Amino acid sequence: MSLYLVSGGAGFIGSHLVEAILGQGDQVRVVDNFSTGKRENIPVSVEVVEGDLADEGVARQAVAGCDYVLHQAAIPSVPRSVKDPLGTHRANVDSTLQLLVAARDAGVKRLVFAGSSSTYGNSAVLPKREDMRSAPVTPYALQKFVGEQYCQMFTSLYGLETVTTRYFNVFGPRQAPDSPYSGVISLFIKALLTGKSPVIHGDGRQTRDFTYVANVVDGVLRAATAEGVAGEVINIATGGRISLLELVRAVQLVLGSDVAPTHGPARAGDVKDSQADIFKARKMLGYDPAVSFDEGLRHTVAWFKAST
Ligand code: UD1
Repeated sequence: MSLYLVSGGAGFIGSHLVEAILGQGDQVRVVDNFSTGKRENIPVSVEVVEGDLADEGVARQAVAGCDYVLHQAAIPSVPRSVKDPLGTHRANVDSTLQLLVAARDAGVKRLVFAGSSSTYGNSAVLPKREDMRSAPVTPYALQKFVGEQYCQMFTSLYGLETVTTRYFNVFGPRQAPDSPYSGVISLFIKALLTGKSPVIHGDGRQTRDFTYVANVVDGVLRAATAEGVAGEVINIATGGRISLLELVRAVQLVLGSDVAPTHGPARAGDVKDSQADIFKARKMLGYDPAVSFDEGLRHTVAWFKAST
């Protein structure tokens, strides 16, 4: 039996990882500052270290005795980073470095870092492959890029095994629609469920590779234990892309709603198109996105309906 630390374990993706780790019969500890995470997202039996990972003492307490660290804690919003580059830097970079140092000193077997497809920036070539040049256009994208660079450096310099899983627009149950910085699918479902008009930023022709959370959980757990992947950066996604206009139609269809979207100004730093090449994940991790976008959307809508 292994002990996993999930940082940000009370948050959206982290709490799904906690559930899956318990389901496979391993032990789990959570470290979270509850800035966006919620206690009700994790079973009461799970050990929780409450605190800010940018504090050395919290990071060291969190990793003590752990085999694997799944680093999900972050302020995962592009527009919030545009508004608050310093605050998000602390949450996304200082915490990551602190956790890497603590994991190195504690002899952790491997740290898996939640990277971001935003790192690719606006290069015209699709799908995005891991060997393409990164070109961050927002503080968030740069912070995630710095995180993965630190991970690779810790592998080469200190021998700490790390893997970066680059996420592409993850969605699913427990993604909270409670802030303007929330993920777009949660915001659109909430709007249409309450008869309000979803707001599309810009013309709605921007595209994303929306990825159901169960696929991400599968990819991350594979990255934690797969052979021969230390130091790698690997896309975890579905491999398709749809526009925001298509997304609204898909949510309307599942909900049986005909409330039309409205358009607002385009967001500063918004990437135009995003789609992953998932060949590397298939080859190195044996990853295969088992849940399609449509199926994931149905599960997500069902969860929102049941929880509101
Ligand atoms: C998302 C993630 C980020 C992740 C990145 C890469 C969230 C909150 N952000 O960024 O953590 O690293 O993908 O995969 O999950 N939009 C609207 N109306 C809204 C909200 C958003 O039209 O009410 C548009 C945005 O302008 C954007 C798209 O929807 O074009 C997606 O936005 P968002 O869900 O915030 O995600 P990303 O910025 O792509």
